[in-house]
Parts: sequence; C-alpha cells; structure tokens
Amino acid sequence: MQSLNQSITVAGLASQKIIKIIPITNNLPPELSLMNFLIANGVTIASSCGGVGVCNKCLLNRTVLSCQITLLEFIDINPSLRVEISYL
Ligand code: FES
Repeated sequence: MQSLNQSITVAGLASQKIIKIIPITNNLPPELSLMNFLIANGVTIASSCGGVGVCNKCLLNRTVLSCQITLLEFIDINPSLRVEISYL
C-alpha cells in the first residue's frame, strides 16, 4: 500500500473539470467504502440501492462500483488516485 499522505483527485467527465482534491488522512476506518469517503467529502455519488451493489449507479472510472470497494483497496489498484465520475 502507498503512503496515505496523498490526495484523491475527483474529476468530472461531463464538465471536464477537477471537482475536488481530497486529502487522505491516516485515521480513516479500513472498512470505509470509496463511495462513503467521497460522500463524506461533499462529492455527489449517484445511488438508488443504498450501497448494496445492485443499482450500478455508483460506478466510477467506468469499472469500479464505489460502494463495493474500500478506499484503501481503491488506492492499491489505482496508483494515480484519480476518481472519474461520468455525470459530474
Ligand atoms: S450504490 Fe448501488 S451499486 Fe453502488
């Protein structure tokens, strides 16, 4: 795993803009989902299933169901730390 003193960059594909840059703090719970991390930091994430993995609306980076992956898992598989949201 990478050092956590980094930031998640949230990019909107519709707007072609950087929506937010969110610092990753060291005290985050390991079970925190990427979706809940983004929501807690003011990023709108579409969802109609409440995060149980059936609506597919929380899809990020075209392949990642953000409710079904923890922030730490996302960091491990995405060294760029970039989140792309199609509808923002
Ligand atoms: S919130 Fe419904 S699949 Fe993630």
